[in-house]
Amino acid sequence: MTLYRGTFLDTPADPFSGGTLRVEEDGALLVDPAGVIRDRGGWESRRAAYQQEEVVDLRGGLVLPGLVDTHVHFPQVRVIGALGMPLLEWLERCALPEEARLADTGYAEGVAVDLVRGLAAAGTTTALVFGSHFAGAVDALFTEADRVGLRVTSGLVVSDRVLREDLFTTPERAHAEGLELARRWHGLRRNRYAVIPRFSLSCTDALLASCAALQEEVEGLWFTSHLNENVVEVDAVRVLFEDADHYLHTYAEHGLVGRRSVFAHNVHPTHSELVELSAAGASVSHCPTSNSALGSGLFPLRAHVEHGVRVALGSDVGAGTGFSLFKEGLQAYFMQQLLGAEGLPLTAAHLLHLATTAGADALGLGDVVGQLSVGHEFDAVWLRPAEGTTLDVALRHAHSPEEALAKAFALGTTADVRATWVAGGVVSGGAVVA
Ligand code: GUN
Ligand code: ZN
Repeated sequence: MTLYRGTFLDTPADPFSGGTLRVEEDGALLVDPAGVIRDRGGWESRRAAYQQEEVVDLRGGLVLPGLVDTHVHFPQVRVIGALGMPLLEWLERCALPEEARLADTGYAEGVAVDLVRGLAAAGTTTALVFGSHFAGAVDALFTEADRVGLRVTSGLVVSDRVLREDLFTTPERAHAEGLELARRWHGLRRNRYAVIPRFSLSCTDALLASCAALQEEVEGLWFTSHLNENVVEVDAVRVLFEDADHYLHTYAEHGLVGRRSVFAHNVHPTHSELVELSAAGASVSHCPTSNSALGSGLFPLRAHVEHGVRVALGSDVGAGTGFSLFKEGLQAYFMQQLLGAEGLPLTAAHLLHLATTAGADALGLGDVVGQLSVGHEFDAVWLRPAEGTTLDVALRHAHSPEEALAKAFALGTTADVRATWVAGGVVSGGAVVA
């Protein structure tokens, strides 16, 4: 077994329901060879109890649960950072031309390496990944995630209208290709399959029905799509689905809204949609840098929380501006500040919760990851800035672990992530055995 020594912070008790940050300063975690945390406590007493175990010294900086990204687009790694366009124009001019390139599986394999490396380097250990419109590319993504060991839920993205034609499928092809991919990958080691219509705007009812059929056919599949991101998009969906009361109904009508459903954005929900999301136990992935970059709007977090809708964080790469969930957390905080009295003031504990425990819960993995508790797997990120950097100085001068965590969200970047583990195995960076 391995004894990790460091300052461990996590949020097993939800700060949105009165919980506070859990702090183990100069603590120890005992991890078994399968990667499961077997004991935790103060360093001195745990070292005395486990004198024979190998020690990994993670002092300096902070050790947090592995970060959970509930919305990130595999084919968009190479187009991060396009500025100045709203959603539909950005899709047409920037995202979709790149997505079309993944028809070439060789190209897709390179992008898969970029994506998995980008996630792991940022401290993300679990991700719900919007796949590609091409089955070969989705296969390449799972192959790379599986090789590295990240926890990835992903699938074939399907569309049959509105977008450029080289991305179109048919209901029959979507079903057949999805079924083959799901049978190959769902439940294999850390991989899981998700059914993914791109958004109602690009899907006919027949295609959404084929998505529902696939979800019925294979036990335990996940579902993800986009919802209420941009006002022009919402209006266009209203025109295409004139019988639907609102955007969520376009999915609900096909039985696609449930506990294993994660909807990205929901910046412009109606009251009824919040009520229905909550009743269904569905989750919303809040993607604050994307919403800011595309000018989509300010996310009504307070309304989600008050309606009991589950919310977690997503990077939404490539409309989002990078893989770092520290940046997403900071931007989420900014947004709530900008909403004034309508906003929900967030503490560092809220941000950590949104980036870890809430994501694990949204993805049905709350018993496995998202916190550093006994019985959970050791998925972790060691934030350890280089000496003399602003974050290093800030952490050294923090007056409490809570303050240190706020500074980590304010200043932390991928460059400050020294190492990332999934189930006790290093997936990025590294740490020295003492
Ligand atoms: N809606 C449909 N496709 C996309 C996408 O790729 N990014 C974002 N942000 N919204 C979408
Ligand atoms: Zn998206």
